[in-house]
Amino acid sequence: MNVQAVKTLPDAQTVTSVNHWTDTLFSFRVSRPKSLRFRSGEFVMIGLLKDDGKPLLRAYSIASPSWDEELEFYSIKVPNGPLTSRLQKIEEGDEIILRPKPVGTLVLDALLPGKRLWMICTGTGVAPFASLLRDPETYEAYDQVILAHTCRTKAELAYGAALAKALPDDPLIGELVGDKLHYYPTTTREPSANEGRISDHIRSGEVFEKLGLPQWNAAEDRIMICGSMALNKDIMSLCEAQGLTEGANSNPAEFVVEKAFVD
Ligand code: A2P
Repeated sequence: MNVQAVKTLPDAQTVTSVNHWTDTLFSFRVSRPKSLRFRSGEFVMIGLLKDDGKPLLRAYSIASPSWDEELEFYSIKVPNGPLTSRLQKIEEGDEIILRPKPVGTLVLDALLPGKRLWMICTGTGVAPFASLLRDPETYEAYDQVILAHTCRTKAELAYGAALAKALPDDPLIGELVGDKLHYYPTTTREPSANEGRISDHIRSGEVFEKLGLPQWNAAEDRIMICGSMALNKDIMSLCEAQGLTEGANSNPAEFVVEKAFVD
């Protein structure tokens, strides 16, 4: 095991489990600092010690909900990536650094009240939504919640797909989820039920038709966006074309956006 222990640091947390979803994607859970309070959808800085003893940290969305006693993260394995090439080797019992200062705009507070909450993401951008989708407040605030996730292949969708499948039967929040949750996966480089980029499915109206939901309108629809810069830009302009405006913690509005961090 090549990962240097970080026990001497005050911000060390213990890895409790690791799940490798594909050759390039993995999730892991760590102990939660007692003092850490966060809102579902926020991110923190996590990392490992470099060989020179200095911390190497990156922003990671917390994928677990705010009520969970552990913290979950979902990560890509970037070939030769300074952090992820080492982070992907962590095992149960190892320690990572976690700075307990959560921030972020993909929070319910940054949106005005609405009827439907759309979560639009690519790749590991699903992580903050994995948090929000397990938070009872999400279902208390909205009549319908839509997770739209675009990946290249079906295998890359597995983390989000497993979550969406499990939620209606979840012993804690399954009843709240009920039939409010819609899952809309699309693949761009492998045939599937929904082929192509989510942005194109929104533009063509295919996603609305298939889900039986109306086109976005500023009175009812709230949109959260998390993916690459290109995805974020595309979806933001689709929001703006429908008269939706960007919100922030200090100024809630109709959509919010955040870059999926490690890429
Ligand atoms: P595509 O295969 O057409 O590039 P990546 O693996 O490169 O991080 O991309 C993740 C997913 O996001 C891929 O399916 C990719 O589609 C898709 N994607 C990339 N750019 C956009 C965009 N501007 N709008 C929607 N989806 C995008």
